[in-house]
Amino acid sequence: MKNIKIALPSLKEARSRKNNNIETIRYRLDNKYNSLGKGKTYYIFTYGCQGNEADSEVMAGILESVGYTLSTDPMNSDVVLLNTCAIRENAEQRIWGVLGQLKGRKRENPDMIVGICGCMPQEENATQKILESYDFIDLVFGTHNRDHLPELIYQAYLTKAKVVEVLSNEGNILEDAPKVRASHHKAWVNIMFGCDEFCTYCIVPYTRGRERSRAKNDIINEVKELVKEGYKEVTLLGQNVNAYGKDLAGDYTFGDLLYDLDKTGIERIRYTTSHPRDLDLKTMEAMRDCKSVMPHLHLPVQSGDDEILKKMNRKYTYDEYMTKVNKLKELVPEISLTTDIIVGFPNETNEQFENTLKLCKEVGFEGAFTFIYSKREGTPAAKMEDNVSDSEKHERLNRLNEIINEGYLKGHQRFVGKTVEVLVDGESKNGDGMMCGYSPNLKLTHFKSSDLSLIGKTVKVKITEAKTWFMIGELCE
Ligand code: 5AD
Ligand code: SF4
Repeated sequence: MKNIKIALPSLKEARSRKNNNIETIRYRLDNKYNSLGKGKTYYIFTYGCQGNEADSEVMAGILESVGYTLSTDPMNSDVVLLNTCAIRENAEQRIWGVLGQLKGRKRENPDMIVGICGCMPQEENATQKILESYDFIDLVFGTHNRDHLPELIYQAYLTKAKVVEVLSNEGNILEDAPKVRASHHKAWVNIMFGCDEFCTYCIVPYTRGRERSRAKNDIINEVKELVKEGYKEVTLLGQNVNAYGKDLAGDYTFGDLLYDLDKTGIERIRYTTSHPRDLDLKTMEAMRDCKSVMPHLHLPVQSGDDEILKKMNRKYTYDEYMTKVNKLKELVPEISLTTDIIVGFPNETNEQFENTLKLCKEVGFEGAFTFIYSKREGTPAAKMEDNVSDSEKHERLNRLNEIINEGYLKGHQRFVGKTVEVLVDGESKNGDGMMCGYSPNLKLTHFKSSDLSLIGKTVKVKITEAKTWFMIGELCE
């Protein structure tokens, strides 16, 4: 297939933090694409974080605005997009696997447009591999230009060539793009994009660009609109939400935003992800004062060892992390804390790993995403020598998970006998006459009922049993 290369990624450029002004642009569809997808179907496979889920909702909105409808047979749609994740090698392996399956489908249906987008194309070596070894892919674009989607598809149809547009520098902030939200009662709300932290193991500052905050009024208006539409919960999204506003004029912070959003009438506010260094007192006070801000905080610690934290460029110590956690527990005693932890960072010693276990016990995390360190080409840690064997890394992960799993169970046990408010998501997966939803502390809760009209409503459930991964309770009349 012939290539149209509009732009290719460059890690060097992505690393630079230029001082050019970021502008807010209002999405407008060029009339020439109005019926681009008439009578055609689409499907988006989404991998990775909530940021990608939110991006897929925008791409679905854009596709539906030009006439595409959601396919019931994903592998046989007219347009198939893979919205990818680059955070760890195993995330990428899964995507190469799905591409392998799509290759066969494309052979049977040559008119199908296959696109790969999101974080993977932002990596130089991934895009090179796509261009060299995955010739059947029609579209390659990154995280900064999803609003160009109609134009890119149009070009692919028109030219029958591979269209590649991966911008290395972040684009402007896109407002007013159409969205097809996956839920009718819970919504993602991006408050900022990108990350300037440059943790040494992490590819995100390169794939997502520099920190850009949305204007506060755009966020507040979006939440007000969601309230009008009947939404009950918003999750504010950003790689480091605590840095919200630092790139804008004035001194409006994330804490201020929480106080303002509390006044919109939205029932529940959650947010992710936080950086411990930037978590400030005002945010903690907002968690105490605002009824709608839920008592759960995901506060990635990554390691409990000061030397490893330094090598990771996390910019806090064990003690500084604990000071913030203790303050938060003082202000919001009912809080549940969860975290992210990496084991087997280059040259992590057993003693250093033990410090991580110590911290976990001291905090009493009620859940965690735990990972084995994965080398990401282009990051500073990729150049560090690593003498930790694979078996040692797996053993550490198992030891850590044992403690974390105890934390999950304890986090559920503390609610047994209590009544919690559950925002109902739907029927439980095993279909045994149970329904489920989440409590304020983000505990998955199952209760007996088959009343589908409860979906999207908040009900009271008395907790009768705690398991490791969920709680069980009885619906209160
Ligand atoms: N290897 C393993 N885990 C990683 N994370 C980010 N980069 C890597 C990596 N190279 C984890 C961190 C982060 C979460 C989203 O993914 O724990 O908080
Ligand atoms: Fe990656 Fe660190 Fe930014 Fe999180 S804060 S996205 S771990 S660089």
